[in-house]
Order: sequence, then structure tokens, then C-alpha cells
Amino acid sequence: MPETHLHPDVDHVLLDAQQIADKLHELGQQIAADYADEPPILVGVLKGAVMVMADLSREIDLATEMDWMAVSSYGSGTKSSGVVRILKDLGADISDRHVLIVEDIIDSGLTLKWLLSNLRSRGPKSVEVCTLLRKPDAARVEIDVRYVGFDIPNEFVIGYGLDYAERYRNLPYVGVLKPSVYGG
Ligand code: IMP
Ligand code: MG
Repeated sequence: MPETHLHPDVDHVLLDAQQIADKLHELGQQIAADYADEPPILVGVLKGAVMVMADLSREIDLATEMDWMAVSSYGSGTKSSGVVRILKDLGADISDRHVLIVEDIIDSGLTLKWLLSNLRSRGPKSVEVCTLLRKPDAARVEIDVRYVGFDIPNEFVIGYGLDYAERYRNLPYVGVLKPSVYGG
């Protein structure tokens, strides 16, 4: 990524667009092979997962469906509140379906843990998780994440769907935000 294209609030690029695309291609092929018998319904978690969903779904050569949930676990800060609220529920009935949750990032894992038990209570055939990014704290929660793009350091990242106070989602790369931007 040339210097001139780097957003001034970004300290450095962690993953560039090509690295992300290569990884999603790899994960898409793996998912297509694993679900060859019965395509899953992809459940994207708004808003952070929009870019992952858009690019990953096009790498899965199966008749998948797509649905969305919006949950809220963060305010405008950088730490998980642990409180999860449904802002938008699924349109689809997932009973007797294979569900693949598509996530941008797992940090504390609190959001995902809650989401997994919520979706499992609806009688699906299976629920698995695909996340582009995972932070070290996620290892402390007992959740089995089947597909992980990248394990990243414990820094606040933005871009490729990820925001800080709703900004930076449209950056084509995943970058580390300068701590000065959030008063760190
Ligand atoms: P968790 O509940 O701590 O696992 O956090 C899950 C959600 O917090 C993610 O889906 C993101 O929306 C947000 N989040 C966690 N870490 C970051 C980050 O580094 N940058 C931007 N958003 C984050
Ligand atoms: Mg998210």
C-alpha cells in the first residue's frame, strides 16, 4: 500500500487487500468442499461483516443463501461492553438448516458466544463460524471457530468493514488505528 494512499489516522496496514482476497479465496474453497452435500445459509453480522460477506460469498461455489443479523455490543469506545442487543433479526427460518455465521472479528468472544446460543436455540442442523480476524482474548472463551482468516495482535483495527465510531469501514485494507485518534 503506497504511503500516499494511507489514511492519516492509520498507524500501519496490518493486512492489505490482496492478502485479504487470497485468504477469503482459500476459506471459500474450504467451505464449498465442507458443505458440498447441503449448502449453508450464510448469516452475516452487521455492519462489520459486510465486506467479508460480499467477498467470501463470491468465493463459495455453492447455492448458498444470505441473511443478516445486527447486534450491538460496543458503544463508540474500543472495549466490549458484554451487553448484546438485537438490532435486526434474521428474516429466514433456520430450523433444520446448516448455518454459517460470517464475522469480521472476534475479540472477547462475548458477542459470538451469545449469538451461537441464540441461533442454536432455533433448531438448526448445525451452526459454524467463519471470521476474518481473531484477537488473542478470544482463546479464553470456549467457542469453536471452524474457519479463521488471521490471528492478529491485540490492537484496535479498522477498515474492511471494521469501524471506530462508525468511521473507516470503507478502507480497502485492515489497519491499526493511531491510539491518538481514540485518546489512547
Ligand atoms: P467481542 O464481543 O469482544 O468479540 O467483539 C465483537 C465485536 O466488536 C466485533 O464484531 C466488532 O464489531 C467489534 N470489535 C472488536 N474488536 C474490534 C477492533 O479491533 N476494531 C473494530 N471493531 C472491533
Ligand atoms: Mg461484528
